[in-house]
Amino acid sequence: MTKKMYITTPIYYVNSVPHLGHAYTTIACDILARHYRQQGVDIRFLTGTDEHGANIEKSAAAKGVSPKAWTDEVSAKYRELWKTLNISYDAFIRTTDPAHEHVVQAIFEKLLQSGDIYLGSYSGKYCVSCEQYYDESEMLPGGICPVHKKPLTEVHEETYFFKLSRYEKPLLKYYEEHPEFLSPKYRANEIINFVKSGLRDLSVTRTKVKWGVPVKSNPAHTIYVWFDALINYISAAGAGMFLCEGDKAEHQEKLALIKAEKFEDLWPADLHMVGKEIFRFHTVIWPAVLMALGLPLPKKVFAHGWWTVEGNKMSKTLGNVIDPAKLSAEYGVDPVRAFLFREVPFGQDGDFSMTSFKNRYNADLANNIGNLLSRTLNMLAKQQPQIPADIILPAEIQQKTNETESAINKAYEELAFDKVLEQIYGYSADLNKKVADTKPWELVKTDPEAAKAILLELIGCQRYVAKWMTPFMPTIGAEMSKRLEAGTIEKYAPLFPRIADK
Ligand code: MSP
Repeated sequence: MTKKMYITTPIYYVNSVPHLGHAYTTIACDILARHYRQQGVDIRFLTGTDEHGANIEKSAAAKGVSPKAWTDEVSAKYRELWKTLNISYDAFIRTTDPAHEHVVQAIFEKLLQSGDIYLGSYSGKYCVSCEQYYDESEMLPGGICPVHKKPLTEVHEETYFFKLSRYEKPLLKYYEEHPEFLSPKYRANEIINFVKSGLRDLSVTRTKVKWGVPVKSNPAHTIYVWFDALINYISAAGAGMFLCEGDKAEHQEKLALIKAEKFEDLWPADLHMVGKEIFRFHTVIWPAVLMALGLPLPKKVFAHGWWTVEGNKMSKTLGNVIDPAKLSAEYGVDPVRAFLFREVPFGQDGDFSMTSFKNRYNADLANNIGNLLSRTLNMLAKQQPQIPADIILPAEIQQKTNETESAINKAYEELAFDKVLEQIYGYSADLNKKVADTKPWELVKTDPEAAKAILLELIGCQRYVAKWMTPFMPTIGAEMSKRLEAGTIEKYAPLFPRIADK
């Protein structure tokens, strides 16, 4: 059996256009995918759009178009942005794909048969924007949504429940036996305490929401958008085993969105990357559903933090939403990708400001990596026009390089992207220091062989820098590697033209 590494982003709601926050989760997965591919790991990377539910129905109505037309339009915007940001996903799922909808329906019927889903009725406080019920302990005083700060709506309806309460103990046992599952560690306690405080069965259908997957055996109900959405991770991986025979013939083929031989070659996922506000859905509801289905659980769910902008929440009303495509058009895609992961320890919240973007660009990219490359190439060109293929590094330099590479690989395992970049920038800064200390432009006058040896060493070391930067900067990393390859040194434009201080 050839199990592939399988990682996912959340699937994005199509009720608004994508912004920097969405791009963050996706770029993180892209960096990981590119790193592991570089390591020779067979990895598959899934993303997509979450297209059902009352909010999306409402957004479409506000635009005066059908939900289908609306979801087509916004889902396409996501794909466009991913193209702009150079996201190398293997598959893109839409929850309105009929093949996915059939799996959702089939899973629902299976859980109905096993008694994990049952019909009941519900009354409670619901937030239409979150598409979620809140109980007393979670809402703000006066029945206010803790996220949207708007009054919750009192809802009474007949609904199907998922027997989440059944999985309280098995979940706690799983967390204990698989400490990696709840990542980063500092977010684990919140989930463990939540489960320990007692799980209530979860309402998983709506009678008032029309834009959703209908329950096959009772189409007056549509399936709760989160229940539908989470299943994307297995339906895209080809989980057709739940389909009835007739549906199998029609949909099984279309399910295997990801070009892998079998569902078992992908599932369980190695990583679900999510933002902190949807950690609970992925670490409580989702594993319980998988347990009910008898499927293995994902190995890790990692929750990253949130970006604010100059101290404020990113919001349409505040007009401070950062458009990653615009930012990239001005400063380049690659610098934007790298900035997001150097600025903030992955997992924690961060604040975006143009000042820190420009400062880091100039310090880490223009003055450190970019300057080093142009200096070394210019100095070497004065001595010899060619770069040789093989450059053997002195033993102690090779050892330091190997140690840096090990530290980088370890940081990747911890999803500590900031530490990966810290290692690379630190290594490159040491090379710059070497130039300053040894002054090859002066040394060449007295000992040209020694000067040349230093320059070649610097070239050899930068080949590593280029390779390490490539997951973050796919285009510029490749360009760096090209400039450092064996061959004639040419006149090159700077990789990172300095951003002028206005
Ligand atoms: N549709 C659900 C996920 C279903 S997964 C089965 C959803 N979609 S979302 O579009 O609202 O959010 C997608 C991702 O974007 C989440 O991981 C979320 O944390 C991330 N971000 C949205 N705004 C963000 C910031 N301002 N900062 C960082 N990430 C944030 O939730």
